Amino acid sequence: MDYGMKNRLSRIIKPRSGKTVMLAVDHGYFQGPTTGLRDLRKTVTPLVLHADCLFITRGMVRNCIDPDADVPICLRVSGGPSILGELSNEDITTSMEEALRLNASGVGLSIFVGADNEDRTISNLGRLVNEAERYGMPVLAVTAVGREMARDARYLGLACRIAAEMGAHFVKTYYCEDFYKVVEGCPVPIVMAGGKKIPEMDALKMTEKAVKEGASGVDMGRNIFQSDKPVGMIKAVRAVVHDGASAEEAFEIYSKG
Ligand code: R5P
Repeated sequence: MDYGMKNRLSRIIKPRSGKTVMLAVDHGYFQGPTTGLRDLRKTVTPLVLHADCLFITRGMVRNCIDPDADVPICLRVSGGPSILGELSNEDITTSMEEALRLNASGVGLSIFVGADNEDRTISNLGRLVNEAERYGMPVLAVTAVGREMARDARYLGLACRIAAEMGAHFVKTYYCEDFYKVVEGCPVPIVMAGGKKIPEMDALKMTEKAVKEGASGVDMGRNIFQSDKPVGMIKAVRAVVHDGASAEEAFEIYSKG
């Protein structure tokens, strides 16, 4: 890995702990003004101080994140369909030049394993990695599985391994039973997506288990910004990820807000 690649990646995955708390706020790229992100600037501003990185589209960076905000950006560069269409019908939508212009520390796109356009989205990843390598830009592969496929260790393991084989520098996936098997089969860091909003204690327990089973942190959205105490929740997630706090200890942090 060359200097620029390592330097950018270390802005996302912190060398102190080898972990990261990425705040995912890219949902609008196919969901529109979803709950909690209708006014993205208002939601994200108090959370920026506590996030190691934002996972976000270029449009929201330009319009809602101040250029002097001290937070690394991992830019979502894929899109195409909305929630009304076939979600796997994605292409690369944002150029590497744009990522460099926005001073991104990484770029991310989705692969849809087991879905209609699985082959094209995996090829997209390969092409993105080819280009990213030229500029020392880390690539995050977001593993989305087909609607009819179970989110279990077999299929998430398949998706994460394919992402790593294509050259992704880190991978995002969901938590599942036997998550450690997904980690074992994937030689690059894995960050856990939070998924739909669940009670805070459950989200913290899931985070604790994921980290214990080898996750390099989280790229979490709804379970933070849809919480009744978003700042408390991101602080609590940080305590689990970076400081090895238990879910119970972290819940105390969340409760204080
Ligand atoms: C999903 O496609 C988006 O990329 C989100 O970034 C991802 O799902 C993580 O957000 P959440 O924790 O809300 O699932």
